[in-house]
Amino acid sequence: MEPAVKPFLVIAHRGASGAAPENTQASLRLAMDLHADMIEVDVRLSRDGVPILSHDATLARCTGHKIPVDSLTLEELRRYDFGGWFSSEFIGEPIPTLEEALHLVRARVPLNIEIKTDGAVSGETEERVVELVARMGVENQVLVSSFDERALQSVRRALPRVKLGVLYDGRGDWQAFLRRAELLKAAAFHPEERSVTSEMVRTFHRSRIRVFPYVVDAPERAAEFRQWQVDGVFTNYPGRFHNTSA
Ligand code: G3P
Ligand code: MG
Repeated sequence: MEPAVKPFLVIAHRGASGAAPENTQASLRLAMDLHADMIEVDVRLSRDGVPILSHDATLARCTGHKIPVDSLTLEELRRYDFGGWFSSEFIGEPIPTLEEALHLVRARVPLNIEIKTDGAVSGETEERVVELVARMGVENQVLVSSFDERALQSVRRALPRVKLGVLYDGRGDWQAFLRRAELLKAAAFHPEERSVTSEMVRTFHRSRIRVFPYVVDAPERAAEFRQWQVDGVFTNYPGRFHNTSA
């Protein structure tokens, strides 16, 4: 019998954000068209507590308006164009809610929900995400990640079976992050790609935790990671990684 081929996941970072505006329905649709194995989105709250997709804390980069995301209600956020900054082809692309994103990808591709808390202690963002995931019954179709350990702890308490990913920006001792990931019963470790070593990968695998570096856009780099038995990569260009040796 052939040995089982270990899957190498191509994870679309903020959707297919190299070719469509990040964290929009257009970038999610394109990621699915390009056969991404998973799609990552960044999640924050609007002023009225609705989980929406935005990497940045302000609208500056993606709309040109220096306004904090959490100072606007969903209705107000909807008035802004989140596509035109990327290219004229996407003018008028609205900011999506997490609920819309889940409906769009549901049953087609798993969604990696990265919770952005900016260190806030209120716990509201993770609470709202948990409520939505539970209400929609999509606990098995998501991977919840965060740089914020406390947010992950509260997600773990509320959703004992959900898959969790621990993010690591390369600062601090990764062994300490291994211990955190073990305590959280995390499924995955998401290190910044320059911090990854083959020893790191082996060590996480011994604890049965998968390793997904971010962000890898060069197929040659992905090929190197595959040699180290890395489990997949976050990329802005999911179309580059299928049907190649990388
Ligand atoms: O989840 C991987 C990656 O998205 C983390 O960094 O800043 O792009 O959200 P960032
Ligand atoms: Mg992210």
